[in-house]
Amino acid sequence: EKIEKATFTWQTPSNIALVKYWGKSNPQIPKNASISFTLNNCHTITTIDFLKSENSEKVDFDLFFEGKEKEEFKPKIAEFFNRVAKYCPYIFDYKMIIKSENSFPHSSGIASSASGLSAIAMCLMSLEKELNPDLSKDFINQKASFLARLGSGSASRSIEGPLVVWGAHPEIEGSSDLFGVQFPYEVHPVFKNYQDAILLVDKGEKVVSSTVGHNLMHNHPYAENRFTQANENLEKISNILQNGDIKAFVNLVESEALTLHAMMLTSNPYFILMKPNTLEIINKIWKYRAENESNICFTLDAGANVHVLYPENEKDAVNKFIEEDLVNYCQKKQYIYDTVGLGAVKK
Ligand code: PMV
Repeated sequence: EKIEKATFTWQTPSNIALVKYWGKSNPQIPKNASISFTLNNCHTITTIDFLKSENSEKVDFDLFFEGKEKEEFKPKIAEFFNRVAKYCPYIFDYKMIIKSENSFPHSSGIASSASGLSAIAMCLMSLEKELNPDLSKDFINQKASFLARLGSGSASRSIEGPLVVWGAHPEIEGSSDLFGVQFPYEVHPVFKNYQDAILLVDKGEKVVSSTVGHNLMHNHPYAENRFTQANENLEKISNILQNGDIKAFVNLVESEALTLHAMMLTSNPYFILMKPNTLEIINKIWKYRAENESNICFTLDAGANVHVLYPENEKDAVNKFIEEDLVNYCQKKQYIYDTVGLGAVKK
């Protein structure tokens, strides 16, 4: 029996990769496995009203972002629906009214594609569950991650938490190129409730989008070595997360961030997403770590902002360092305190 009308609301988070995904083949198949911390405070809340309509050939939706109709976001979402349609044919039976908002400041340089697309994917799966009540939670999460991946690769890692692996890897049981899986092994207590302070260095439009960046890995002189290294790093970090070797964690995570940006520097055309204050902050973090016997470290995504990662027991000291010093390198003194989270939440 068909459903005439249904409304679902999901909150899904952003995530920050520890081993980076950079390079893919079609359709959104990663060249190497990646792993991320799921975040908690940086999230999207999306409501979709599904209204039964005449079956049409075209996906029909309206899009409201933070209360306003957003024509400029529609092409990306339309492309997402076109890609997922063959896995969710029921979307042709409904008109969808999508209302979305982010917890983080608009165009802050925080990637909203991971949280935004995973939220839409969860709403689609809620409708699918109404149409087919037998679906299990595991199936729903796996398919949501599969769908989200088709929109933005890293979005596949935003359904669950606290650590998600995306990409088939021999050392990670159950891992797949098609969807993210929760890191399947016991994590050492030092990595529980890890802190991530996101320093907003630059809120401007990126000079090169991640789509273009991924494509530049196709004729990249170091690509094959990079994919091999990333898969080796994934095996290393899997062991580190289990045995609690935080010094090795710091080393691996920072090396991954700098290698990601090194791939950008050595692409052709080449490009730089870091800003002078990105480097100022990195140097400050290194100095602080040396002087305070701290385990603070940084990572970067495809932008200028710095993610400062630290264990919970350093929270007071590091937050003081951020508020008294690092804040001066942030655009409009903006930063966001986040922690590792558990993934999608139904509202
Ligand atoms: O999901 P995309 O296509 O926007 O790619 C994201 C790539 C990085 O954020 C740079 C790394 C990652 O693994 O999240």
